[in-house]
Amino acid sequence: MKKIRCAVVGLGAIGPTHIKSIQEIENAELYAVCDIVPEKAEKYAAENGCKAFTDFDTMLQDPAIDLVHICLPSGMHADFGIRAAKAGKNVLVEKPIDVTLEAADRLIRACHEAGVVLSCISQHRFDPDIAQAKADIDAGKLGRIVFGGSHTKWYRSQEYYDSGDWRGTWELDGGGALMNQSVHYVDMVQFLAGPVVEVSAQTACLAHERIEVEDVAVATLKFENGALGLLEGNTAAFPGFVTRLDIYGTDGSIIIEDNKFKEYVTRDDVVGSNFYTPEVKKKELGADAPKEKTGASSAAITNNAHASQIQDVVNAILEGREPAVTGEKARAPLAIILAVYESARNGGKPVKVNQG
Ligand SMILES: NC(=O)c1ccc[n+]([C@@H]2O[C@H](COP(=O)([O-])OP(=O)(O)OC[C@H]3O[C@@H](n4cnc5c(N)ncnc54)[C@H](O)[C@@H]3O)[C@@H](O)[C@H]2O)c1
Repeated sequence: MKKIRCAVVGLGAIGPTHIKSIQEIENAELYAVCDIVPEKAEKYAAENGCKAFTDFDTMLQDPAIDLVHICLPSGMHADFGIRAAKAGKNVLVEKPIDVTLEAADRLIRACHEAGVVLSCISQHRFDPDIAQAKADIDAGKLGRIVFGGSHTKWYRSQEYYDSGDWRGTWELDGGGALMNQSVHYVDMVQFLAGPVVEVSAQTACLAHERIEVEDVAVATLKFENGALGLLEGNTAAFPGFVTRLDIYGTDGSIIIEDNKFKEYVTRDDVVGSNFYTPEVKKKELGADAPKEKTGASSAAITNNAHASQIQDVVNAILEGREPAVTGEKARAPLAIILAVYESARNGGKPVKVNQG
């Protein structure tokens, strides 16, 4: 069996999740790790029996590497991805694709020109209930979508922001609660409810010091099909709560909490009606539907969805097809977030989303 040889660069918080995921994939092999901190590169190489590099460009000279996983600060993704593409490597960057549209577009172009696969992590697209919701919405089960809500009610400590020079900076984090944490659920709401064309927003930094960016963000959304929506991004919601997606349609509604169905009702579930609202039968949503507020923290992140997405990228390379999350698809949540920031800088004035 042909195995895709993977190299992971950036061995901080998320790099090890890629390593663990690669180890679980039959047709992938962890070939190399790279970090400018030699002790990190040596530790993960020794633990996993692979090559260690401290210099990215030296690593790229190794012809055996097929796929480079870029787990570096967000504002470095495009620059490093372009270098990998020019060396003929397939590229998987962590989210967000980068922190400016100009950088994202350069990366997308470079990968097309080099004829390599580009993907960007958006692991929750691979969570089973979200994938099911997407399939059902696309099949028309909810009718016309009228509302999309995305609420990331998280908390990040001051120590978290102090733990890396790049955290909470415009240059390398690209923003705060929205760009770093809520980017997942900005992507999910537009994945499920359709493209966002216009936003109106306010942002503030209220619970943290020594950061340049927002820890609370709110926006109204207008979707391409005319639906309206709400966006909340928070790293100041002490001590952190569930993430929530609300998708309402003319024939049904779905509420997803922590990536699992919380409510899923369609007209097929109607058993009676009164003047105001239909009466619906209660659906069994499975034993693992969230029952109480769980609070989201990085420690709670499992690698299952990462493994599913990395498997898709490996298969895309082997089969010569596009991955599920292309560079173009990863650009969409970035464009929404940048429009939110522009609106907030201008007192909440409506801003059109640059859809490329
Ligand atoms: N998908 C997710 O759920 C998820 C979760 C956490 C982080 N992320 C993303 O992953 C990326 C990294 O975040 P993190 O929290 O792991 O950061 P981090 O600061 O913990 O780790 C970054 C690592 O990169 C290394 N590094 C920096 N410059 C380098 C260079 N020139 N060459 C080689 N190594 C270098 C650092 O030494 C460090 O080990 C960010 O874009 C973030 O948004 C995604």
